[in-house]
Parts: sequence; C-alpha cells; structure tokens
Amino acid sequence: MYIIIIAAIIAAIVVLRRPRKVRYTAPTGKAYNLFLDMLKQPHLLIAGATGSGKSVVINGLIDTLMYRLPFDKDGGAQLILIDPKRVELAAYAKLPHTLAYAAGFNPSAWLSALNQAVSIMDARYTDMERRHLKTYDKGDLFVVIDEWANVYKNGGKEAYKAVLRLTSEGRAAKVHLVMATQVPKANIIPTEIRENFAARLCLRTANAIQSRVIMEESGCETLPRYGQGFYVTPEGNTLYNIPYVKDEEIESNLAWWQEQMRQNHVKWG
Ligand SMILES: Nc1ncnc2c1ncn2[C@@H]1O[C@H](COP(=O)(O)OP(=O)(O)OP(=O)(O)O)[C@@H](O)[C@H]1O
Ligand SMILES: [Mg+2]
Repeated sequence: MYIIIIAAIIAAIVVLRRPRKVRYTAPTGKAYNLFLDMLKQPHLLIAGATGSGKSVVINGLIDTLMYRLPFDKDGGAQLILIDPKRVELAAYAKLPHTLAYAAGFNPSAWLSALNQAVSIMDARYTDMERRHLKTYDKGDLFVVIDEWANVYKNGGKEAYKAVLRLTSEGRAAKVHLVMATQVPKANIIPTEIRENFAARLCLRTANAIQSRVIMEESGCETLPRYGQGFYVTPEGNTLYNIPYVKDEEIESNLAWWQEQMRQNHVKWG
C-alpha cells in the first residue's frame, strides 16, 4: 500500500516538474491611443532635435506593448533593441519579449541584432510560403533603433542594407522597424529608406529644412522644445500632445512581468 502511495507521489512530482508551456498575461493599465496607433503601423520614424522627446516616445511604445500585447512563447510580441546610448532601453533587456539587446557603442552588436531581425523575417516568409499565408499569423516583431544616425554612420552599408530590407519587406511578416533620429537630414535618411516609413513622428527640429525632410513641409522647427509633435500618416499630418509615461509606471510594469516570469519559472534576464 505504502509503495503505491509513494510511487503516486513520485509520479505527481515528476509530472508537476515537467516544463509546462509558458504563458503570460499582460498587466492592465493605461494605454495611449497615439501609441497604440503607432504600434499598428508597418514602421515608424521618429525625428527631432536632442531633448525633443524621441526616447520618451520609444519608452511609451514599449510600455504600451507591455500592456496590450500579451507575451506567449509561441506567438506573442517580440523585441530586438538597439540602444547606442545604452541607458535608454536597458530596463527592457530582461523582458521575455526581448530577443536581442545591443547596447552602447558596439557596431558589431548592432549589426548582429539587425541581421537577426532579417533572418527572422526570412524564416517567417519561408513559413508563410509553406503554409500558403499572405500575412504572418503570429506575433509582431518590433525592431527598435534609438539613434539611427549613430548606427548608420558606424554600421555602414551593412546596417543600411538590413534596414532597407526590414522596411521594404517587413510588413507582411509583421516585422516593424521603429527608428529614432536626432539628425533628420536627407543624407542620414536617404529617400530610399524614408519612403518606406509611411508613418513618421516629427518632434521639434533644429530648422525648417529638417522638418521638410520628415513631413514634406516646415513647422516642426516652431514646436515647443518637447511635448508636441506632428504625426504623419497617409491620412495626413496631425499635431499631437505627446503622452509621457512616468518612470514609476514603467517600473511597475516591469515588476509585473518579472513576477509573471518567476511564477512560470523563467529566468529574469
Ligand atoms: N512628452 C513629454 N512630456 C513631458 N516631458 C517630456 C516629453 N518629452 C520629453 N520630455 C522631457 O524631455 C526630456 C528629454 O526627452 P528625451 O530623452 O526623450 O529626448 P530625446 O529626443 O531622446 O533626446 P536625445 O536625442 O538627446 O536622445 C525627458 O527626460 C523629459 O523630461
Ligand atoms: Mg534619446
């Protein structure tokens, strides 16, 4: 009798300890419509002078993603983060969504993150072909570059090629590029790349020429130092107040995810 009970207990322990399918739910909270709309765009270009709020927008987008796009190992949203300034996106490196985090001045890490995104895109197309799909049916991949000028100047042709491929082919594979730049000049964002960004956010620019590069007209140079921007989509240009997600909100969201991962026995980071 005892032997049967002990065997049953051992069997139960074995079954319970078997790795289960990891599934998370997203926290509930405030998500901003502007950010939700931006996340639905194929790609997003964010331009503006230093201190105009580009990183604030990127934080808002990732925060909104944490609310609204539940992560599930087989089909949730994924992130590839390129953060030449190192500090801006470090907090998100440990999220289960994050496939790669290239931080600081490290061109080879930037390129490998970009190439990883291209490989994922290619694999998705192969999978779609096999399953006769026109659009990828699983989670979105967001590739975030916080300071394109830096990556372009130091990552050279290879960075350019990867970004061109992601922006021209990403759409059906649900691969989105979100790219910020302090230097909205024509030579930094050549027409070939710019044209692939149907959605753009123009924060305060240093001058009218830079405003024209981004939204084909002047106006961004007269915006307040931060807090407002023109959201440019195929529907037109609309002036928005830019929501500001506080550090505490981001921290509480991250803590929420950390707890989810603990409950699922997944290592944080
Ligand atoms: N929408 C906003 N609401 C309130 N404050 C804002 C907003 N946008 C920016 N700020 C303020 O301006 C500061 C600078 O913003 P941010 O770091 O996003 O600029 P940036 O464009 O990324 O600059 P850089 O090019 O130097 O990286 C923020 O720390 C914040 O204090
Ligand atoms: Mg910044």
